[in-house]
Amino acid sequence: MLQGKVIILGVTGGIAVYKAVELLRLLTKAGATVHVVMTRAATEFVTPLTFQTLSSNPVHLELFNLISEQEIGHISLAERADLFVIAPATANFIGKVACGIADDLLTTTVMATKAPVLIAPAMNVNMYQNPIYRENERRLKEHGYLFVPPACGMLACGYEGEGKLQVPAVILEEAVAALTRKDLAGERILVTAGPTLEEIDPVRYISNHSSGKMGYAIARQARLRGAAVTLVSGPTAIADPWGVKVLRVESAREMRDAVLAELESCDVVIKAAAVADYRPKQRAGTKMKKGAESLSIELEKNPDILAEVGGRKEGRILVGFAAETADLVANATAKLNAKNLDMVVANDVSLEGAGFNVDTNIVKILSKDGKVEELPKMAKDQLAGVILDRVLALRREKGHRI
Ligand code: CTP
Repeated sequence: MLQGKVIILGVTGGIAVYKAVELLRLLTKAGATVHVVMTRAATEFVTPLTFQTLSSNPVHLELFNLISEQEIGHISLAERADLFVIAPATANFIGKVACGIADDLLTTTVMATKAPVLIAPAMNVNMYQNPIYRENERRLKEHGYLFVPPACGMLACGYEGEGKLQVPAVILEEAVAALTRKDLAGERILVTAGPTLEEIDPVRYISNHSSGKMGYAIARQARLRGAAVTLVSGPTAIADPWGVKVLRVESAREMRDAVLAELESCDVVIKAAAVADYRPKQRAGTKMKKGAESLSIELEKNPDILAEVGGRKEGRILVGFAAETADLVANATAKLNAKNLDMVVANDVSLEGAGFNVDTNIVKILSKDGKVEELPKMAKDQLAGVILDRVLALRREKGHRI
């Protein structure tokens, strides 16, 4: 995710400094080269040795340090950085930068850099709500500084409220977002994901093996690229992607209602969900008791959500998925035409490394003009990027974007 990127992690003094250690681990695991700059106060909470060991780089502490100057040569930290992440950022640090004060190494390099600066504040709730702090944050945002909002909860000072340093995984996600080109800015994308679940009685249901990974990967990538994303998801074990509006549903009928309610406010619909085609005709109100040697459950058809959306398509781009086990191109083409789609992502779910519950997929992308693009096996995250590239190209073709 962050391969080849140089990140300066600025750590200022607060009890949340220990969480910056976890953030450092996540940044390096994601492939970034990280140089840590600590303020004097930060070193009171965690020693520089911890950050040095985990970053495999010397920690920078002083404004004028001849040894580190020699080590990094004439290239200053400010110039080398692709991104600055300040976590935790105290009210004091934010106030100083907002007022143009550069009186230590961190404030000096932050002011000297042209790289994006991502600030993760952590402070007492009253400080966070103080109008002077608010003014400073607003001012910095106006100048293009990025913020990760703090979390809400029990603070170290005993207060309850906003001010906790955001969880490291979210700060990492925002770091990735800060380094991602916003080529989908202004797009409103609706994604569906996961299986649907059709109840037989209060304890049993019919469903399928869809994990939701493909749809979640598309939703996440689209939001990283600047789109406003709504994800309508059947039951999955995946956490809500950060920054995405997530609507959780269970049955196909609930998914249909959620999709239709959101349709007006979106330009692109990508239907990765594995919707159950049928549901039990009768849902028993109490647990069905065991009895006869065999049992039949009568099923009735669920609404075809994508076909319905195809009927109300207007200027939208519609992307469907086709899960097949035979005659891939013919079956997928039939779905593309029948459901009025612009594109269908077809996969042979019987292949190893494709389809349900795995991290990779092997697909062909079929377009309305008859083009069939055959893609090699790739990670679902990567495939999500390719699908969104094709969506963007279609939006440009339709003249919605330049
Ligand atoms: N789909 C839908 N509503 C349904 C069934 C499918 O919106 N009731 C959508 C899926 O989200 C997917 C596409 O239609 O984008 C194709 O789904 P798939 O299960 O491959 O095909 P079906 O149309 O259900 O046809 P079949 O099961 O006969 O292959």
